[in-house]
Amino acid sequence: MTMGIPPKAERRAAQVLRGVEAALGRLLARAGAEVPAETAGDPTMHQVLMTVLRRRATLDWLIDRHSDGRTRPRTRRVLWWALAEGLYLDGLPVPVIVDTAVEDIKAISRGEASFVNALLRRLLSPGREAVLAAVREQSPPWVQLDLGRPLYDAWSARLSPSGLAALAGLLQSPAPLVVRRRQGATTEAAATPAGLEALPAVDWAPSAELYRCLDPGACFASPAWQAQAFYVQDPSTLLAPALLAVRPGERVADLCSAPGGKAVVLSEALGGSGVLFCVDRSGVRLARVRENLLAAATARTLVADACDLPPEVAALDAILLDVPCSNTGVVRRRPDVRWHFTAAGRDELAATQAAILAAAAPRLRPGGRMVYSTCSLEPQENHDQVAAFLRATPGFVLEDERQLDPDAGHDGAYAARLVRRR
Ligand SMILES: C[S@@+](CC[C@H](N)C(=O)[O-])C[C@H]1O[C@@H](n2cnc3c(N)ncnc32)[C@H](O)[C@@H]1O
Repeated sequence: MTMGIPPKAERRAAQVLRGVEAALGRLLARAGAEVPAETAGDPTMHQVLMTVLRRRATLDWLIDRHSDGRTRPRTRRVLWWALAEGLYLDGLPVPVIVDTAVEDIKAISRGEASFVNALLRRLLSPGREAVLAAVREQSPPWVQLDLGRPLYDAWSARLSPSGLAALAGLLQSPAPLVVRRRQGATTEAAATPAGLEALPAVDWAPSAELYRCLDPGACFASPAWQAQAFYVQDPSTLLAPALLAVRPGERVADLCSAPGGKAVVLSEALGGSGVLFCVDRSGVRLARVRENLLAAATARTLVADACDLPPEVAALDAILLDVPCSNTGVVRRRPDVRWHFTAAGRDELAATQAAILAAAAPRLRPGGRMVYSTCSLEPQENHDQVAAFLRATPGFVLEDERQLDPDAGHDGAYAARLVRRR
């Protein structure tokens, strides 16, 4: 027990450590895995987890500098928790952090526990300002920006030093939580839930009614939310449906549709007439599309590969290709992306994207339009991809394209409208 600290506070610290350590173990075992929902139900645990995921380069640099660099994965996760608490968060006194970490490791190895004790005392005793000043002065630039080395290399090759620092700084903050009022919400669900603040319209989707969610608990418990009159929707996700500009009565396909954020907008634009094929190769994820579409009469969900579509998905007026991508525009929501990104992985994704574009193009009727979109900031997945498609596919023209960089109000996204000549 730590002198002067109530045992309840220590038990809670140990509980958060166990939750964060286990969540990190699961998350890092699988590239692209989403932040576990169980930590989102515990705001403290979620905050520590997100801090570790945002600050891993700094935490690892400190650990490796004060050890032989061979720290075991589980011990490292405990150290991440302790350093995140001690250097970035304000909840726990240093003696509680050190004791909690040491007790946790002692159950596995007494030798490791004395290593953890010595390392944490060395790193946390001087005070956070001194330790973080040493990181700023002595660590390599990707550590100072808390980016994985491959992502730093990709971004520093095309951004100015000040642009890169501004982007990396922005990505350390939480993403805004924005909800949209669904069109056609029933009148009893029309009242705006508590905890929402109306936002100004975005120029790419001026009619969308958007709100910043200031109190998720109150909002998600409200009758309007229960009646599904609102939907969590970052404003950037409205760019691609806006460029596609679907009209009632059209034959439309969303070929990478799950979990359905953009399909919901397309379905609303059809207004109950026409057809919307919602395709995804993941049956599990497609179940979410069905839930989100609220049994819209126009929607047909199909588990299929966009490169091998059933014959009925043809003669289309409009196609949305919201392809799998490196997710570098949504790093605030998916902080692990910055550690998993590699140039080879991005190029592999670009090859998949090119195959989907080539397979979808003939499904469009002459005069039809196709929007290609990503939540990536990488030119290889965006403009360069579209330019390569246009070079390889006579009969298509680029009518419009737009890149949104992430900012305080929205995530990053790219969309391009391609039209098949008559
Ligand atoms: C970026 S997400 C789509 C997000 C969705 N449009 C939305 O707004 O909610 C990409 C989706 O593409 C799917 N996917 C990946 N490769 C595919 C392929 N070859 N054919 C069909 N779907 C694919 C994934 O399962 C994933 O659900």
